[in-house]
Amino acid sequence: MRKPFLAGNWKMNMNSATAVNLAAGLAKELAEIRTVDAAVCPPFVYLQSVSAALSASDIAVGAQDVYFEGNGAFTGEISCEMLKDCGCRYVIIGHSERRHVLGETDALINRKIKAAIGRGLLPIFCVGELLEERDGGQTNAVVADQVRKGLAGISSDQVKTITVAYEPVWAIGTGRTATPEQAQEVHAMIRGLLGELYDPAVADGLRIQYGGSAKPGNTAELMAQPDVDGLLIGGASLKVEDFSAMIKTVAEKQK
Ligand code: 13P
Repeated sequence: MRKPFLAGNWKMNMNSATAVNLAAGLAKELAEIRTVDAAVCPPFVYLQSVSAALSASDIAVGAQDVYFEGNGAFTGEISCEMLKDCGCRYVIIGHSERRHVLGETDALINRKIKAAIGRGLLPIFCVGELLEERDGGQTNAVVADQVRKGLAGISSDQVKTITVAYEPVWAIGTGRTATPEQAQEVHAMIRGLLGELYDPAVADGLRIQYGGSAKPGNTAELMAQPDVDGLLIGGASLKVEDFSAMIKTVAEKQK
């Protein structure tokens, strides 16, 4: 049985005051929730204050990116040890905005995933196709290629620490959510591929989140799909009411 996992990706939003307020508000709203894993991923500069605001809460903290080197002359980059030092348990790797806006390659993403696992962070590994790729019937091929390349050289024991996030690029920040059936189809394909790359038991234990215009109104139908184990949430995670409503909706179904 996979425990549902909902994570908020704050992207490049909030300031020092609103970040702490959001975290504190979530800690209060979600104090009774035990059946759903929740995490927030603030910008690097607010990780410490958000971690402090969540210190008495079960809500985990994650970063939005990491660099694979341990330390040294890498101006502007942040290491795994630094993230752990700031209270991070998770790290998002390979988000589509990093792939398509910042130019990250599958090879770079693979190095980051290996570094994160090696240093005890739990990666949230993002994959997803562009609109033209979906329209061209290439969704499964594109996503499968990203999964294979992102996980190259990662052992079956190591892969157990990963959450995969399927985020169709055309659904991110557009209000155009994938239908539950579209999400399920790709999630099932990913789980099948993980079963081939590792083994079916390992694939069965891995959590696959959906991301792209997830909100309170579509949480139940997305989460009702057998291979949708969680959500990676952008815009709706910036509001205490919305993010907590989504988590409570999922917790309610667990009863
Ligand atoms: P939205 O929920 O704002 O569409 O963003 C999804 C996302 O990119 C989460 O990582």
